Amino acid sequence: MMCPCGGKCVTNAEDVLGHLEHHHIPCKSCGKIDLKKFSSLSEQLELKNINSQWGRCKCGRRHLDAVMAHILKIMIDEGLRDKQANLRKVGTPLITPAYPLKGAPYLSEDSLVFLTDELNDKCALRIYKEVPEVKGILKGDLKDTVGMKDSTSTPHTYQLLAGCDMRCDVVQTPSGALCIYKNQSQVHLEFPKPFSTKITAVYNVLKKYKSPRVLDCTCGPGTLGIAALKAGSRKVVFNDIWYPAAWTTALNLEVNGFPTNLTRKKEGLIASGENFEVYCADIKELTSILNEKFEICLVDPFPGVDFKEAVKSVEKLADELIIIE
Ligand SMILES: C[S@@+](CC[C@H](N)C(=O)[O-])C[C@H]1O[C@@H](n2cnc3c(N)ncnc32)[C@H](O)[C@@H]1O
Ligand SMILES: [Zn+2]
Ligand SMILES: [Zn+2]
Repeated sequence: MMCPCGGKCVTNAEDVLGHLEHHHIPCKSCGKIDLKKFSSLSEQLELKNINSQWGRCKCGRRHLDAVMAHILKIMIDEGLRDKQANLRKVGTPLITPAYPLKGAPYLSEDSLVFLTDELNDKCALRIYKEVPEVKGILKGDLKDTVGMKDSTSTPHTYQLLAGCDMRCDVVQTPSGALCIYKNQSQVHLEFPKPFSTKITAVYNVLKKYKSPRVLDCTCGPGTLGIAALKAGSRKVVFNDIWYPAAWTTALNLEVNGFPTNLTRKKEGLIASGENFEVYCADIKELTSILNEKFEICLVDPFPGVDFKEAVKSVEKLADELIIIE
């Protein structure tokens, strides 16, 4: 499975899930780097005489705070952060693979996509070269939703300044865990929780049917529809208006054990497999594109977006409509 960057950023779910204990867990020798988040980093570094390894253990891992401190030190050197800046002023660490941890993550090589709103190419390149844990650097505001909020909005993306922004969220479902990959500059952020209310909502409906046909109208990277396939649905049709999201669904189907072909044999269709199809279309076009009925239709819009009309447009396609809120 090739990542668009040409590297080996994407592996199948079995491999990721079979080795989760190797990710972000400290070994017996890993130490904590005791940095205060609200105090000036530079002053703390002078006091503690921290060397170039920044608390890296012989196993190669470092506490997340050490990695963020290393990044902040470079930003201060480059004049992009105040000399008195503290760890709260660095940016957002997006670890990969992300899954619920009992303690703070201890990071190894290529395990972090770093997102911040104030950065330039030169500093990004320095961080990428000097901090081995960083696999990609994005410029953007955490508050701005990546992708298309609805059919009338202008798409928004983060800017990839260095490396690769492909990362993986591990999502627990009653039928086993899923690996949901995404290029974080193109597909919105969703922080995995130990128990996803969305997944619970979907499973509560799925269990009412023996082997339902499911339409996932706003599939994003495919989480809910792939969960429905894993739970034994007869067929799942995925759709998203935003091409990078629909493409990511196809990638995640393959990753999670559902062989997928990219195809454009029909209007809006971008990929298909044994018992699923992936479309890239406005939800309002689905009645004219799809010539079939479903037991369950899932609609999962972004929070705060008025989707009443969109929901109305798919009412006739399914026996039961589930709107995730
Ligand atoms: C909250 S996300 C869905 C997340 C997904 N269910 C998951 O759990 O991975 C909302 C999605 O709706 C899509 N969307 C927005 N407007 C749409 C429209 N008019 N038709 C189809 N999809 C749309 C966005 O591109 C986005 O991927
Ligand atoms: Zn990559
Ligand atoms: Zn260690």
